[in-house]
Amino acid sequence: MGLPEREAVTTPTAAGHPAPAPGTPLLTATGVRTAFRTPRGAMRAVDGVSLSLSEGETLGIVGESGSGKSVLGRTLMGLITDGPGTTVSGSVLLGGKDVHRLTPAGRRALWGTEVAMVFQDPMTSLNPVKKVGAHLSESIRLHLKLSRADARTRAVDLLRQVGIPEPARRAAQYPHELSGGMRQRVVIAMALACGPRLLIADEPTTALDVTVQKQILDLLQSLTEDLGMATILISHDLATVAGRTDRVAVMYAGRLVEYADTAAVFDRPRHPYSSALIASIPRLDQPPHTLLPTIEGRPPDLLHPPAGCRFAPRCTAATEHCATEAPELAGYPGDRDAGGAVACHHPLGATEEATV
Ligand SMILES: Nc1ncnc2c1ncn2[C@@H]1O[C@H](COP(=O)(O)OP(=O)(O)OP(=O)(O)O)[C@@H](O)[C@H]1O
Ligand SMILES: [Mg+2]
Repeated sequence: MGLPEREAVTTPTAAGHPAPAPGTPLLTATGVRTAFRTPRGAMRAVDGVSLSLSEGETLGIVGESGSGKSVLGRTLMGLITDGPGTTVSGSVLLGGKDVHRLTPAGRRALWGTEVAMVFQDPMTSLNPVKKVGAHLSESIRLHLKLSRADARTRAVDLLRQVGIPEPARRAAQYPHELSGGMRQRVVIAMALACGPRLLIADEPTTALDVTVQKQILDLLQSLTEDLGMATILISHDLATVAGRTDRVAVMYAGRLVEYADTAAVFDRPRHPYSSALIASIPRLDQPPHTLLPTIEGRPPDLLHPPAGCRFAPRCTAATEHCATEAPELAGYPGDRDAGGAVACHHPLGATEEATV
């Protein structure tokens, strides 16, 4: 425990990776499609998603339940691959390597050191019969080739870093002896253990109560900022990613409908769906019990998606064109330098009211 806390965690990043050039794409996904074979036909969960992430950048992926956020996150990580029952196409370059062209061993070597994932329910990542410290020290020893004693020291340092009081005592406990919030902190420590360049957090707080949710999100934010780690934060809630991410990708029925700076989307959403999501966020200046607008209808069945824009059946601005031709994701009309993109035949304009 001779090292200061920060150094103890950043050491593997510094040792394992060359110094990142600012703005270098760390992750480049191009035309990613993931479909599952089901008895009723092909379920196209992710249908042509392209995005990129630079070193240290934070991206939010938001959308309703079933829009394909988790499948996308797992496909980017290489946890879902092409195989029996599943078709994956397009490319995912992570640190210059095509995740889907690596051997299973090559992919495993990336997990933990290049990319790590935090899932919704901490118990999916924790073995109930394994002590907290062992979860950490095993992966540290595997990837960083440290001695047993050094790995144990580093495990305790990591637990302290994620805000666990009495980390040495906690390391000797089993997961069920910790609260839900503490367990998610352990999972975050596991994800950070080998200094990955990219952290994918898939709804990391939904299993926790509201007060703990904020603490965990704040912790994730400060850790990833301190460590200069790129982050993808997946959430069904646009409010969760506001103020916590540089960019946001709004997903609808397996596709990106808007992809832009988070502040720009909040300031002036161009897609009617993004606009509706923002309108449904409760605001402090509203009187209590204000009825928030909801989006009428339901997302389409991904086994039989509509031919045109997938949001058209729920969009009050939809025209015949929307029903027949799917809009491509393209730079904001009239403002192509803004770096934002929208997939809509009738994006909300500068003077239009952002309503659905
Ligand atoms: N292994 C699988 N086989 C068949 N269909 C699947 C499989 N995994 C996911 N799906 C389907 O793919 C679609 C997208 O699922 P996904 O879990 O990515 O949604 P999500 O946006 O993460 O939703 P939530 O907010 O509820 O987590 C869903 O309709 C889901 O039922
Ligand atoms: Mg999900």
